Amino acid sequence: MSRGFPLFRTTSPVAEAERAAILGAPGFGRFFTDHMATATWTPADGWHDRKVGPLEPFSMHPSAAVLHYAQEIFEGLKAYRHADGTVWLFRPEVNARRFARSARRLALPELPEEDFLTSVEELVRADAPWVPDSANEGSLYVRPFMFASEVFLGVRPAERVVYSVIASPAGPYFAGGLSGVTLWISSEYTRSGRGGTGAAKCGGNYAASLAAQIEAKQHGCDQVMFLDDTGGDGSLEESGTMNLCLVTSAGELVTPQLGTILEGVTRDTILTLATDFGLTPVERSITLAELRAGAADGTITEAFAAGTAAVVTPIVGFKGEGYEFTIGSGAPGEQTTALRERVLDIQYGRAQDKHGWLRQV
Ligand code: COI
Repeated sequence: MSRGFPLFRTTSPVAEAERAAILGAPGFGRFFTDHMATATWTPADGWHDRKVGPLEPFSMHPSAAVLHYAQEIFEGLKAYRHADGTVWLFRPEVNARRFARSARRLALPELPEEDFLTSVEELVRADAPWVPDSANEGSLYVRPFMFASEVFLGVRPAERVVYSVIASPAGPYFAGGLSGVTLWISSEYTRSGRGGTGAAKCGGNYAASLAAQIEAKQHGCDQVMFLDDTGGDGSLEESGTMNLCLVTSAGELVTPQLGTILEGVTRDTILTLATDFGLTPVERSITLAELRAGAADGTITEAFAAGTAAVVTPIVGFKGEGYEFTIGSGAPGEQTTALRERVLDIQYGRAQDKHGWLRQV
């Protein structure tokens, strides 16, 4: 039986003129649409109280488990407006499956894929006027999340959990990102270890990345690039909010293998598209020494970061304690630019969707 998220429309939506002004320059993550989806889980009733209602604050007891033990997960995906006005999601089933995997790792109840997809679609439908057009890479960033709301201070999986979806009109994640970003390779902080939560999309991973992000900014970099936890030279893992991809002079598109990194949807999209550009996709460990040597002798020709928010963002240089280097000429690479265009063209309906990645809302 299909279970919907019935819509209770807000009586006080943002005025049309104000919404138009926001959509003209949304930035990232600063403005929110009129509605939100919610559902609640308890062991006795499973998932229930599904609805899309007005956007409003949560009321939570100060002992709610998420506030103390960070039992929380989230997803990020975008809705795109095509030239004919229709609105489409990009590979939402992949986000639904990753959300279920993250839930298992954080001992949260799994949300059925159908509920994930329905809640996202119903919310985007209710707030369709908030989906920007493709000018300035506009999209509606959709943020499903789940947290432990049980009133209890003992440490065990919570027995009351809230699922919700909110949405935020978005422009590019990095202002000026098209000209390329520089990443700080932290020798102090790591993001994950074997058996940890590195592959889960949980708030705790992002909280733990913030001190490293401050360190990156202090060194004049846009983001941090994490190494694995083996110390010393280490292997490259991922950036604070994005996966890493390298292009080599041998025609490979190399990205760190899965395990302790996030299984990015854009990462997978790039690996699938690579062959269209004459690149062989390779998932393997890449050491910092290899990156430095490859940048110096020209065998690593391009670097970029891939993520839903960041799409494909050229990486023009790296810095670490006592060293810095550029990739190629220090400008965005040709393959990077071509891959970025192809991903955006598919998302905005300008290129054929050969893989069936788009889903109309
Ligand atoms: C995304 O790209 O969707 C992310 O989750 C990055 C984000 C934390 C802004």
